[in-house]
Amino acid sequence: MDQPDVRGVDRGLTSYGDEGFSRFLRRAFLASAGFDEVDLDRPVVGIADTSGGFTTCHREMPQLVKAVERGVLEAGGLPVVFPAMSLPEILMSPTSMLFRNLAALETEELVRAQPMDAVVLAGGCDKTVPAQLMAAVSADIPAVQLVAGSMLTGTWRGTRLGACTDCRSMWARHRAGELDGDDIADVRGALATTGGTCMVMGTASTMACLSEALGMSPAGTATAPAPTGDRLRAGVRSGRVAVEAALEGRRPSSIVTAGALANAVTVLLALGGSTNAVIHLLAVARRAGVPFGLDDLSRIASRVPLLVDCKPSGVGYMEDLHRAGGVPVLMKALEPLLDLDVPVIEGGTLRDRLAGVTPPPDWQTTIRTLDGPLGPTGALAVLRGSLAPDGAVIKRSAASPALLKHEGPAVVFESPEDVARRIDDPDLPVTPASVLVLRNAGPVGGGMPEAGSVPIPAKLARNGVRDMVRVSDARMSGTAYGTVVLHVSPEAAVGGPLALVRDGDLIRLDAAAGELSLLVEPEELARRREQWTPPRTPERGWRRLYHDHVLQAHEGADFDVC
Ligand code: FES
Ligand code: MG
Repeated sequence: MDQPDVRGVDRGLTSYGDEGFSRFLRRAFLASAGFDEVDLDRPVVGIADTSGGFTTCHREMPQLVKAVERGVLEAGGLPVVFPAMSLPEILMSPTSMLFRNLAALETEELVRAQPMDAVVLAGGCDKTVPAQLMAAVSADIPAVQLVAGSMLTGTWRGTRLGACTDCRSMWARHRAGELDGDDIADVRGALATTGGTCMVMGTASTMACLSEALGMSPAGTATAPAPTGDRLRAGVRSGRVAVEAALEGRRPSSIVTAGALANAVTVLLALGGSTNAVIHLLAVARRAGVPFGLDDLSRIASRVPLLVDCKPSGVGYMEDLHRAGGVPVLMKALEPLLDLDVPVIEGGTLRDRLAGVTPPPDWQTTIRTLDGPLGPTGALAVLRGSLAPDGAVIKRSAASPALLKHEGPAVVFESPEDVARRIDDPDLPVTPASVLVLRNAGPVGGGMPEAGSVPIPAKLARNGVRDMVRVSDARMSGTAYGTVVLHVSPEAAVGGPLALVRDGDLIRLDAAAGELSLLVEPEELARRREQWTPPRTPERGWRRLYHDHVLQAHEGADFDVC
């Protein structure tokens, strides 16, 4: 068990009755790594390094970790780097989300089991930062979240491009026949041109900004692009802050409070950020023991306008947000809506943090003001109704306004594989007014892949149809866009109403009213329910554990035992 009064390498000593021998053994092995008593009397700061060859967006991390080490040393601490699970968003199958809880568990246990007084959690890819925040809250030793930083944009024929909103829009143009094979091959080389995380306001960028908004990352460290000196300085600073946090015992439990979570949601809405952040914040809140649900999100969403002009809700990229002043300037703009009394990791409160920050300057257009917002309140909306009794989420800021109130007949797909098989079938009975329904892609059913932005059927795309209403228990990439209803809860695999939809059933979406309804008589649904059988349970291993323990989306899709 934890020994909070014991510092450094003696923390958590397992003595089996001879404590002197255990201490002696530990120091003998540390001596083999070049540590002497001068080193070992300092506060030990662990640095969780999540680089990996498949995680291309973390390729600058080794240099960043060096910067953290320097910061720790300068502040009088002893840095010790350890590897932690690397989760490459693009290269993991079936979805990196299936492994977020595994990384969270692993990180929590590594932080708890190894002797450190504080930890710097270096991460950046979509599931890494959520996993690290979840781990930090549960391990509850002083922790600094340090993000990898975003990629810089590339260009193609004079147009600025970024991963992955432009990956999607360019591929959609290719599917529609506007870009040929040579064009799309050129585009491929211009989408992800440097190290760093996806640079639109997708999940990685959103979670970076929310870590800072929560107070878990030092002010101003969320937005600096990976290849810059600003990013390295963020690393050095995080190292110094970690030593202070160790000495002063600033634990995540004192930082991740109801007020901090409300601040994070406020920033999420102002960013027009990723829908995935909703799930991650719910999971973090649950671990922190803070009562926080979709209704809290809904309440906050209704008063926060869209302020940040980044893709997919706007036109800019993370580097633009950084140049405009980043999260501190954004939070200054949001000041009247924030809880300013919450503590932050670098010491003091959010009020102290924002005291010297200027409002959005007029030489830039990326960060707007409450008086002159970029878009209306409610960039994200929570939906409920007979099709989603426990809630669903839609990103209104990335949807087509004309479709936000819509009633249409369902075209049902049983799984993401079924979508792949049939979506481009010329005989698919689909019109632009149809509602594309995807099920068995929720937490239990499929590990919740980013399959929710079902592609527009080719025959419609070729005729210029760019958006349709889509409904699923899946997630969608934070970089995606369209009128896409996600996270339908309870999901189909546990027998939610989504499991009972049939082709041709009418579905009503009314985003302004927060409604998602299946217009089928309850008696008919009861009959269908009698015929329903749950999908097969995975036989063994991680997938079995995941299936047996994962909670629904509206609870954060964490494990029931966490
Ligand atoms: Fe890692 Fe996009 S692939 S952030
Ligand atoms: Mg993503």
